[in-house]
Amino acid sequence: MAYNLLKGKKGIIFGALNDQSIAWKAALRAHEEGAELVLTNTPVALRLGTLNALAEQTGALLVPADAASVEDLQALVARSQEHFGGKIDFVLHSVAMSLNLRKGRPYEAANYEFFNKTLDISALSFHKLLQVLYERDAMNEWGSVVAMTYIAAQRAFEGYNDMADAKALLESICRSFGVIYGRRKHVRVNCVSQSPTLTTAGQGIAGMGEMFGKADAISPLGNASADDCADYLVTLFSDLTRHVTMQTLYHDGGYSMTGII
Ligand code: NAI
Repeated sequence: MAYNLLKGKKGIIFGALNDQSIAWKAALRAHEEGAELVLTNTPVALRLGTLNALAEQTGALLVPADAASVEDLQALVARSQEHFGGKIDFVLHSVAMSLNLRKGRPYEAANYEFFNKTLDISALSFHKLLQVLYERDAMNEWGSVVAMTYIAAQRAFEGYNDMADAKALLESICRSFGVIYGRRKHVRVNCVSQSPTLTTAGQGIAGMGEMFGKADAISPLGNASADDCADYLVTLFSDLTRHVTMQTLYHDGGYSMTGII
């Protein structure tokens, strides 16, 4: 059901790869709530062509950008502002990549070039994005920037590898930039800590099947799906959450607060 929560709002969504992606579902829900969208992903992801269907379905403009490249981010934000004819109301950073995970290198045998790439793409890119938005004064007052995180930033999950460190840095950047962006421009910056979700990135995590099942069993409400996450994200893009900032917000069916059951 749609409530027109994002009527007249303009947003950029990073990270839709296929119809399982959290960002894909978020784009569909944001469109349903009346938002105008720019969708972005790496040039390689765009060349796959899958995103064309989502762009068509949501009437969005597609702009390629490597989230780790300041130049690409500058071009993306400039193109988006041109397309929207003004400032931006919300941005979703739903981006992560670990070559250590992809190539099956465990944490205790990490390749440091891969490690640096993990941190750059999955965490530092959030700082780069925020800095580009801030320097260009591209966000409307009371705008909202959200990044996706996981509880491995706070607790040890062996299979999560170097991505755990990337998420810890991501959450710290959310607080550190959030205080500046809030004070100076009234822009919100938050992280959503999502349940294990069976997406392309999710399935790349060692032991994901077991992690998904255990979290589902422990969480009083069960795991939150990507569709549930999209609903929650819409509230964070909307005017209904204007004083929520610098938070890691758990969208996990209660998993993070549950002890022995
Ligand atoms: P996904 O694989 O659909 O999305 C990851 C996206 O990152 C892809 O679209 C990929 O193309 C993009 N990406 C990778 N390198 C990039 C780069 N250099 N520049 C721009 N984009 C790049 O998977 P999912 O699960 O939707 O992931 C979205 C976010 O949610 C990630 O930050 C992930 O860590 C987070 N998350 C996922 C959970 C899960 O269990 N699936 C749980 C908690 C958080």
